[in-house]
Amino acid sequence: MLLENKVAIVTGAASGIGEASARRFAREGAMVVVADIRHAKAEAVAQAIRDEQGEAVAVEVDVADAASVEAMVNAAVAQYGRLDVLFNNAGTLRPGTAVELSVADWDFVMAVNVRSVFLGAKFAVPHMVAQGGGSIINTASISGLHGDGGAICYAASKAAVINLTRALSTDHGPQGVRVNAICPGTIETPPVKRMMAEPVVLERNVNAHALRRLGRPEEIAAAALWLASDESSFVSGEAIVVDGGLRAQSPLGVLADPRPASKRA
Ligand SMILES: NC(=O)c1ccc[n+]([C@@H]2O[C@H](COP(=O)([O-])OP(=O)(O)OC[C@H]3O[C@@H](n4cnc5c(N)ncnc54)[C@H](O)[C@@H]3O)[C@@H](O)[C@H]2O)c1
Repeated sequence: MLLENKVAIVTGAASGIGEASARRFAREGAMVVVADIRHAKAEAVAQAIRDEQGEAVAVEVDVADAASVEAMVNAAVAQYGRLDVLFNNAGTLRPGTAVELSVADWDFVMAVNVRSVFLGAKFAVPHMVAQGGGSIINTASISGLHGDGGAICYAASKAAVINLTRALSTDHGPQGVRVNAICPGTIETPPVKRMMAEPVVLERNVNAHALRRLGRPEEIAAAALWLASDESSFVSGEAIVVDGGLRAQSPLGVLADPRPASKRA
């Protein structure tokens, strides 16, 4: 029970990585605020947690909106009396090159992916400081570590999340607040399953990972759990890569071996 007596907010918790994390946090003893813009789905996740004898409430939030994020944090503290963990996980993607992408889509993605992290910290940190510390986790992406094309705003926003994580950890570390990011590879969540419907896209993604498969939401939840818990008590300002070996590979793959990966020992 790594999160016994801890209170955790997970945003984007109605689906994918957020849902898996909310469920895992609850199984580890946390009281969980299941926060999402899709309230009915968030309610269903909170109910599923309670059905497993866990503790959870659903809160409707738009993470891009200041008043909404403030209300979410206040709801967590009103319900459970404290706030130990904030997992800023909700995010979005709008495809497009610089020529294709509309200015409105640029602003939308930056608001949902980056302003959200600023707002989460803005309203959560005072509670964490007052009680002696806390852990903030932000979902970035491997797209924040290199220049993925075709979704320039997503790549820029996730790079911003990584450096915002470092800056937040610098400001609030002295007050006992740890701030870290997670950079997932390609994880099988509902939007990714839709993107991978085309076999050639799926194959390209599978082969990009050294483990030759996509990740599961539970595998990101496990990393989030570690960062949320006291097991990572001396870790702050980091961007932890959980990508099945994607980033470790050179685009060449293996040198001087013409056999396909499946035929190598
Ligand atoms: N799946 C991947 O391969 C992958 C890889 C790297 C990073 N990520 C990041 O992981 C995070 C979760 O993505 P996922 O793949 O689990 O997607 P998902 O669609 O399964 O879950 C995202 C959730 O965020 C919610 N959400 C969206 N906008 C919101 C808003 N303004 N306010 C509140 N909630 C909002 C959605 O309703 C949804 O339930 C995102 O930040 C995403 O960029 C995903």
